[in-house]
Amino acid sequence: IVAGIDSSTGRTRIVACDSATGAVLRSGQAEHPAPEDPDTRPGEADPQLWLHSLGDAAAGGLLEGVRAIGVSAQQHGMIGLDAGGVLVRPAILWHDPRAGGAAAALVDELGGPAAWTAAIGAVPGPTYTVAKLRWLAEFEPANARRVAEVLLPHDWLVWQLLGHPRRRTTDRGDASGTGYWSPITAEYRQDLVELALGHRLKLPDVLGPAEPAGHTPEGLLISAGTGDNMAAALGLGLGPGDAVVSLGSSGTIFAVHEQAVVDATGLVSSFADATGRHLPMVATLNAAQVLRSTAAMLGRDLEGLSDLAMQSSPGAYGLVLLPYLDGERTPALPHAAGTLTGLRAESMSPQHLARAAVEGMLCNSADALDVLRARGVEVKRVFLLGAAGRLAAVRHVAPQLFGVPVVVPPPGAHAARGAARQAAWALAGTPEPPRWELPGAVTVAPDAEHDPAVGSAVRQQYRAAREQIHPETAG
Ligand code: XUL
Repeated sequence: IVAGIDSSTGRTRIVACDSATGAVLRSGQAEHPAPEDPDTRPGEADPQLWLHSLGDAAAGGLLEGVRAIGVSAQQHGMIGLDAGGVLVRPAILWHDPRAGGAAAALVDELGGPAAWTAAIGAVPGPTYTVAKLRWLAEFEPANARRVAEVLLPHDWLVWQLLGHPRRRTTDRGDASGTGYWSPITAEYRQDLVELALGHRLKLPDVLGPAEPAGHTPEGLLISAGTGDNMAAALGLGLGPGDAVVSLGSSGTIFAVHEQAVVDATGLVSSFADATGRHLPMVATLNAAQVLRSTAAMLGRDLEGLSDLAMQSSPGAYGLVLLPYLDGERTPALPHAAGTLTGLRAESMSPQHLARAAVEGMLCNSADALDVLRARGVEVKRVFLLGAAGRLAAVRHVAPQLFGVPVVVPPPGAHAARGAARQAAWALAGTPEPPRWELPGAVTVAPDAEHDPAVGSAVRQQYRAAREQIHPETAG
């Protein structure tokens, strides 16, 4: 038996799996406790609280008989330690927006976007750890001077589980979200750390995919661990040609690729994955939230919205919803608002509005997949994650608009299972990870019923509206 831990922004999930088949034998989860210090800002956390929820989630013998554990966690978070290994301040997490100005300044100071892509394959945004280092240097200089070492959330958890050994470790996937480790050369760029913080740091050793981080005092193997998106890819068993469209409130779109992707537009994060390959990612701001807002406006729940959308037809009688309700990251339209166009007497109905919302959200996701494709990333199959992906209308429309078969996995802790698979791999010591099936996944193919011309007509209608209202997205 092996176990996988996924420590996300809000909670810890744990699964215990059969190491040969990947079958989930036991699972548990617990929310992180509320911060004890009432001044803790929403994008900050005391890492000790992650250990509390880990303990709660493992209660009741979940780890009994487990021989190896893998740890997945939220990417990018900055955990600064002083020379004695003591936490300097609360962790600053991936979604905290405070480092926006710092990221822009760093891009300029190194010589613009092309200088960054030459260094790390991508242009750092506010999520990247390197931008948080600059924020610290600028706004908390005394803390910045004390920071001697920086760990990411999964690095810190692994270190705690191992009982605080002298050696600290990370993996390629999580390291690629720092902005100071290059997935192209597989080396740290201490010059970028110095540019951001004013001095160099002690940084964790970057382990290979099946390399163990060590053993606990009780003899449990702890594998390298990784970031949650890399762990989800491993849990789903993605290979080259496979992409994920994750429809949370906002969207995460990534694909497995053999080479590091180099992108100077700032749209693509050039991540490494947890198998020795790469996992380029783009993010959209508008995904399931678009459906939730439209459903609320129509006085329905999500299922009701899906039923309505199925009563309309492809193209919603010309009604187009550009879903930029929160501005947008991909395409880069930070100040945009949503738009509804093509209103005619015959399209003024709840059914067509519901359809336009589903098509608008999925056309925006398809545009994001095209951003990856335009950088040479092949997409032959799309895994649809998130509750919105299980709606009948979304399952029906997605293959048409993406132009490839769509796999809808059952709900599950995919990142935790991926972490468990990494643990099984490290335990086996084989060149490839163990073959684990994904039971209950449904594949929806754009078959005969799905005329490819229908999907392209819907996307063409959406593109025309987008380019008319936001001409900067044309081309
Ligand atoms: C990816 C990212 C998020 C977090 C979520 O760049 O920041 O997906 O990993 O925990």
